[in-house]
Amino acid sequence: MTRKTVAVLPGDGIGPEVLDAALPVLADLDLPLDLEFGEIGWDCWRTGGNPVPDRTWDLIGRSDAVLLGATTSKPRREALAELAPELREHAPQYLSPIIQLRQRLDLFANLRPVENHLGGGTPYRFCVVRENTEGLYAGLDFHPVPNALWPLVAEHPNARRGGPDDATASIRLQTSYGLDRILRFAFETARRHGYGRVTLADKPNVLRRSSAYVRERLEAVAADYPELPFEVLNVDAVALWMARRPERFGVIVAENMFGDILSDLGGGVMGGLGLAPSANIGERGNYFEPVHGSAPAMAGRGRANPAAAFLTIGMMLEHLGFPEAAGSVHDAVRQVVRRRDRVTYDLGGTATTTDMARAVIEAGQRTTSAPTAAVV
Ligand code: IPM
Ligand code: MN
Repeated sequence: MTRKTVAVLPGDGIGPEVLDAALPVLADLDLPLDLEFGEIGWDCWRTGGNPVPDRTWDLIGRSDAVLLGATTSKPRREALAELAPELREHAPQYLSPIIQLRQRLDLFANLRPVENHLGGGTPYRFCVVRENTEGLYAGLDFHPVPNALWPLVAEHPNARRGGPDDATASIRLQTSYGLDRILRFAFETARRHGYGRVTLADKPNVLRRSSAYVRERLEAVAADYPELPFEVLNVDAVALWMARRPERFGVIVAENMFGDILSDLGGGVMGGLGLAPSANIGERGNYFEPVHGSAPAMAGRGRANPAAAFLTIGMMLEHLGFPEAAGSVHDAVRQVVRRRDRVTYDLGGTATTTDMARAVIEAGQRTTSAPTAAVV
């Protein structure tokens, strides 16, 4: 098998700690992988005016996969205040590194699997597939309301009480191009990983016209997957049922903002973001990242749960074509989490990040038979 290159970008906060702890698992798996480390995040911004420097883009460009620890995203004003003084006069625009990766690499699908790792209660396993490039986060977010939009906005009785300065408008953009590719991706994920069904989380009882169009596209794509049942539910009902009966779901596909919210809820359903991995996938790139973010207040204290980093590495291995290795990482995490003896504080234990990571690596070494669990 040809060797694959992985760009490892530890980033900020707890990112470097969780990757340091989890990456040694790769040594045991003996895969044809070359890891190349690169820089991303807050220090790059403060000292160079760009959280994703050119040398990192070069590295990403020659890699088969990108493994990210975590990056800090801050509002523009705070970001500018932290910039090195000599850079301030050039007034570079701050743009969150993960948003840069998603936009520049056109990573349209954000996958966030949710599973009953902790055990107890009904088993469940589903995946939120979030559209990552359009929807309410398309960037059509206005204040004041632009003149071109004002005649439409002013039809609303509340808007007529003021002018364009007294209102904001954010457009939920969905295009046939964007819809078809994310819907197809959702069905492919369901088929490939045995998720059994596809639920579109939308808001057809309020956003009538846009939801009707999305449903049309859904039905057209679904015709290619006759074995997979599909449904459209209101997003609020999906939130309720995720909490009450998570086992009823397979793939939940949603536009950007709905998917953002539902995937955090998925982390909550699982018992915390410490167990939540993610993959951002497009035609010409990807990055894999634990959902928990940089958690600056926790950094350097050995408290971060490394499970999400392991599960993220598992998703990356699966993507790179190593399903058995992926399955064994996944199973090892599950064993340790279920036993709860060498786990971090968020799971009720007292282990440090490295202790828990060692427990996972040891569990993997004990597993001899090839695991069958799908990771995504
Ligand atoms: C996520 C994060 C990001 C998002 C933020 C940091 C911009 O919350 O990956 O879900 O909402 O897309
Ligand atoms: Mn989010």
